[in-house]
Amino acid sequence: MLSRSFASALALLAFSSVASAQVTTPCQPMERDCPPDPAFGIENHLFNFNKTPDSTVWFPKNGKVTYTPEQGAVFTINKQGESPTIETNFYFFFGRTEVWLKAASGTGIISSIVWLSDCLDEVDWEFMGGNVTHAETNYFGKARPDYLNAIYHPVDAGVQDDFHNYTTVWTQDRMDFYIDGNLVRVLLPKDANNTRNYPQTPMKLSLGIWAGGDPTLAPGTREWAGGDTDFTKGPFTMYVKSAMVSDFSSGKEYIYTDRSASWESIKVVAYVFHN
Ligand SMILES: *[C@@H]1O[C@H](CO)[C@@H](O)[C@H](O)[C@H]1NC(C)=O
Ligand SMILES: *[C@@H]1O[C@H](CO)[C@@H](O)[C@H](O)[C@H]1NC(C)=O
Ligand SMILES: *[C@@H]1O[C@H](CO)[C@@H](O)[C@H](O)[C@H]1NC(C)=O
Repeated sequence: MLSRSFASALALLAFSSVASAQVTTPCQPMERDCPPDPAFGIENHLFNFNKTPDSTVWFPKNGKVTYTPEQGAVFTINKQGESPTIETNFYFFFGRTEVWLKAASGTGIISSIVWLSDCLDEVDWEFMGGNVTHAETNYFGKARPDYLNAIYHPVDAGVQDDFHNYTTVWTQDRMDFYIDGNLVRVLLPKDANNTRNYPQTPMKLSLGIWAGGDPTLAPGTREWAGGDTDFTKGPFTMYVKSAMVSDFSSGKEYIYTDRSASWESIKVVAYVFHN
């Protein structure tokens, strides 16, 4: 059920151990009417990956993720073509994520924290396996190619040594990126092609690892990833201990009311409690 809210999914789980898989239809709201986006609708929800998370909330893609008490979620590339990822079935419309992540090693291997909306607004944290000293942040408005948006931030202790706190706080006025409590980047709408490319539509969170250095990919991608991946040097593993998600619009679902995909066009449907 697409329109089931996050809050009611949680309530449902409390009564039932059977979690039904949700099917989502990819739909571009700038081209056609799309089903409503089910909302998280609550703030500060902590997902601790010391055990398998609720499958009504987290959808696994492109391979298997395992969950361990010590290291949290384990995302491993054992061979070429693998890219295990988990993605939320729910959306936040302005909000905050706090992800505790230990990046994978390996030239060309990308550990990632990605926000993506139906119209392809995107916000990324990316960690190149060949670079232990820097984390990258990036964003896209409606998937418009812009290669000047990425910024590389030094991480004192290194990104692969331990878990670090990568937090992003997003409102209609600004987006703040923090590493271990330090503000490293502020993105203002006016600086994103005069708001045109400012991410402003309901987002899903996904966590995953992939090989940007896969020799079958375009040379530009492999170069950005830090070079070609030698899969004989694997396995390559990223760990995520926890993710905290806040949805700043408390609602049941979000609806694109026209083709503009501007934040003003998104309708927040209120949650109605049934007694
Ligand atoms: C890591 O990335 C930073 C920023 O792009 C760069 O200055 C540094 O040389 C890179 N290190 C390696 C080992 O590639
Ligand atoms: C992670 O960083 C954010 C942003 O600075 C901060 O608000 C939060 O308290 C930090 N989390 C922990 C557990 O320290
Ligand atoms: C910025 O917006 C203008 C239109 O307002 C467009 O022509 C240009 O291609 C945009 N640039 C990027 C990088 O999206």
